[in-house]
Amino acid sequence: MRHRHSDYMLWAKTQSRVKFNLATSGVASFPLRELPVTIEQLEINGDSTYGYAPLQQAIAKKCGVDPDCVVAAAGTSMANHLAMAALFDPGDEVLLEQPTYELLTSTLLYLGAKVKRFSRSEESGYTLEPAEVRRAITSKTKLIVLTNLHNPSSVLASDATLRGVGELARSVGAHVLVDEVYLDAVYVDTPKPSIHLGPEFIVTSSLTKVYGLSGLRCGWILAQPDLARAMWRLNDLFASIPAHPAELLSVIALENLDQIRQRARRIVEADRVLLGEFLARHQFVSTPRTGFGTTAILRLLNGEVEDFRARLRTEQETSVVPGRFFELPNHFRIGMGVDTEMFREGLRRITKVLDTAPK
Ligand SMILES: Cc1ncc(COP(=O)(O)O)c(C=O)c1O
Repeated sequence: MRHRHSDYMLWAKTQSRVKFNLATSGVASFPLRELPVTIEQLEINGDSTYGYAPLQQAIAKKCGVDPDCVVAAAGTSMANHLAMAALFDPGDEVLLEQPTYELLTSTLLYLGAKVKRFSRSEESGYTLEPAEVRRAITSKTKLIVLTNLHNPSSVLASDATLRGVGELARSVGAHVLVDEVYLDAVYVDTPKPSIHLGPEFIVTSSLTKVYGLSGLRCGWILAQPDLARAMWRLNDLFASIPAHPAELLSVIALENLDQIRQRARRIVEADRVLLGEFLARHQFVSTPRTGFGTTAILRLLNGEVEDFRARLRTEQETSVVPGRFFELPNHFRIGMGVDTEMFREGLRRITKVLDTAPK
């Protein structure tokens, strides 16, 4: 039977919302009233065929590429789906990092990939290691898929490491798909999109997680022009024409991106300080420390995560993401950048449950 669902998405859409929601991955919603836009700037229908030219140019400028390398898509989710669908055929071998974001696995399975894994082990702090890719790659590999920042850990892979993976891909004629939806949460010396590392790299990203603009669904793929054209053609089978008001708003958002990013940065950074204090106090959890990102994956050193989560939810109205969605059953993921008071209170409630957990 073909894989046709995502267990994580079902959970996220139906189970994650409680008063103290630490099961988030993106920052607080950016309010429309703070975008410098008037109703006169909006229109229902527009001149969008294979992209809306002003949006193509704005994304290209942000990413430092030619507009011919940009394929617009509804969020990073659709960007991933479209890119994958264009990059391999059913039955082809695809390498995927482990642990990873569940929707990448589900989408690869839906598209009929023969999925092989390479490890980003907890012991190594979830770092991306070309040696692990080398161990898994074969002459049949068509695509290597990874996240940067890594979801769930927020660990950053350096350009040198990515280049190492790119060389391996090139040696067998494969591509590397890097989901960079969290990359702009590196607020200092933000790395350039990895398409700049070589023609084998394909990038997906959006204005959702780091900018609080999820509702615009402004996502994109960066690829070499021939591949980008093939993806546009394939998109005719999926989404055809996007919602034009969202395109217009996305252009305005892209013109004001720095201010939008700074707004969330303050919350993310305040939350990270609280997380650091929390981790320093607790011997019951462990996690690699990162200087950026909106998520952290914590290992529970005592007790069962499902018991812990159930108590957290029923007794403390607090939610965290179960690690099983990342193939890490002894772990849970928490999110930063929404509301520092909520985050502080959520951590306090986690502490209450940890302090009364079976030792
Ligand atoms: C790695 C990764 N990629 C893509 C997405 C989805 O992004 P978007 O909301 O832009 O579709 C998520 C959401 O959690 C994610 O974690």
